[in-house]
Formats: sequence, structure tokens, C-alpha cells
Amino acid sequence: MRTQYYTAASLDGFIATPEDSLEWLFPLGDINQTGYPQFIKAVGALAMGSTTYEWMLRHVIRPGSANPGEWPYEQPAWVFSSREQPGIPGADIRFVQGDVGPAYEQMRAAANGRNLWLVGGGGLVGQFYDAGLLDEIIVQVGSVTLGSGKPLLPRRITSPSLRLVSALRLGEGFAELRYEVPGRETANTGSDGSP
Ligand SMILES: NC(=O)c1ccc[n+]([C@@H]2O[C@H](COP(=O)([O-])OP(=O)(O)OC[C@H]3O[C@@H](n4cnc5c(N)ncnc54)[C@H](OP(=O)(O)O)[C@@H]3O)[C@@H](O)[C@H]2O)c1
Repeated sequence: MRTQYYTAASLDGFIATPEDSLEWLFPLGDINQTGYPQFIKAVGALAMGSTTYEWMLRHVIRPGSANPGEWPYEQPAWVFSSREQPGIPGADIRFVQGDVGPAYEQMRAAANGRNLWLVGGGGLVGQFYDAGLLDEIIVQVGSVTLGSGKPLLPRRITSPSLRLVSALRLGEGFAELRYEVPGRETANTGSDGSP
């Protein structure tokens, strides 16, 4: 079981524009031509912050519209917010706030040995990193620059550095970089180090 931050970012390290737009991302390639279909099969639970959840509501679910979309995940999802958020009928979503440790334990139990996907954003993933609970970062680096926006991971990780495990060219639109976070060799443990 690994805790993975799997996301797409611009070459200059942003996962969304300052206005939370992802319009720059979709023309770069088809998600089904990436490692995503294989990645998601191994995921047992996922977590995201409220900005990401609200983006999904606005752009995918569109509640109240003539043609509402479906929640795309079969796995249970933990959504972090200090505010009350609307649920989605039929979707297994748990709203939580505060320390990421208890949510991590719940996710780990629900995932039953499968991986945990941290969908984003960077600040939430940073909280998992701070708690020593982040194992891998898998970034599809898009062939665009945004100049400003929502950061990939607003933390300084320098010494020891991340370990680059693989680099894949995905057409002209993306390079997929996979990194391991040092110090997470005993990845299959609880937030208190318990097996
Ligand atoms: N490029 C990609 O593949 C990709 C992937 C994921 C996301 N995105 C996009 O990137 C942007 C990410 O936005 P973002 O960086 O602002 O991050 P975010 O993580 O989606 O949302 C941040 C918000 O989540 C809530 N939150 C975070 N940690 C919390 C905690 N421990 N307890 C309670 N609430 C907590 C806070 O808001 P409240 O407390 O006010 O609710 C916080 O302001 C979105 O536009 C998203 O759509 C892009």
C-alpha cells in the first residue's frame, strides 16, 4: 500500500490557474492514453481538498442541471473542508477536517491493502507530507507554462531530495515523472508507525 500524489502540473509547477481553471490541461492529451487507467485500478481510497471537490461539483456533477454528471470514483473519498459541503447521491464521500492522521487511518482501513490517492491540492498533500504519510509523487508534467496558479506542492524538500524513479514521455503533451519520498521505506504502516 502506497500513499500517492498523482496529478498533472504545468512545466512551471502549477496544478491550476489562480482562478482554478484546468482549461490548459485537457488539450494536452487524453487521460486514457496515460497510466491513469492502470493507476486507478490499484487505488482503494482517495482524498481531496474542498477547492478540488467544488471544481468537481461545478464541472463534472453540475447539480440541478438538465444533464448532471456522475461522480467518477468507485472508491470511498475523503473531502477535507472546514465548511459544510453538499454530498452527491450515490457517492461514498466522507467530509472531514483538521489533522490528516485520523483520516489516513480510516482511508487505510477502507483501502484494504490498495493504494491511497491524494488527488490534491498541493496544500492538502503538504499536510500528509508533514505528517510523514506521503510515499510517492507521480506528476504528468504538461508542456505548458502558466506563470502563476495553485502550486503543485508548497513545501521545501531538498535534503534528502526526492528520488526520481522513472521518467516517461507521453507524446508531445506530457512527461510523467515518478518520485519516491525519502524516509518512507516502511510505507505500509499506520500514522503512529504501527504495522
Ligand atoms: N492538475 C490536476 O490534475 C489537478 C488535480 C487536483 C486538483 N486540481 C485543481 O487544483 C486546484 C487545487 O486547489 P487548492 O490548492 O486550493 O486545494 P484543495 O486542496 O483542493 O482545497 C484547499 C481547501 O481545502 C480545505 N482544507 C484543506 N486542508 C484541510 C484540513 N486539514 N481541514 C479542513 N479543511 C481543509 C480548505 O478549505 P475550506 O476549509 O474553506 O473548505 C482549503 O482552503 C483546484 O482548482 C483543483 O480543481 C488540479
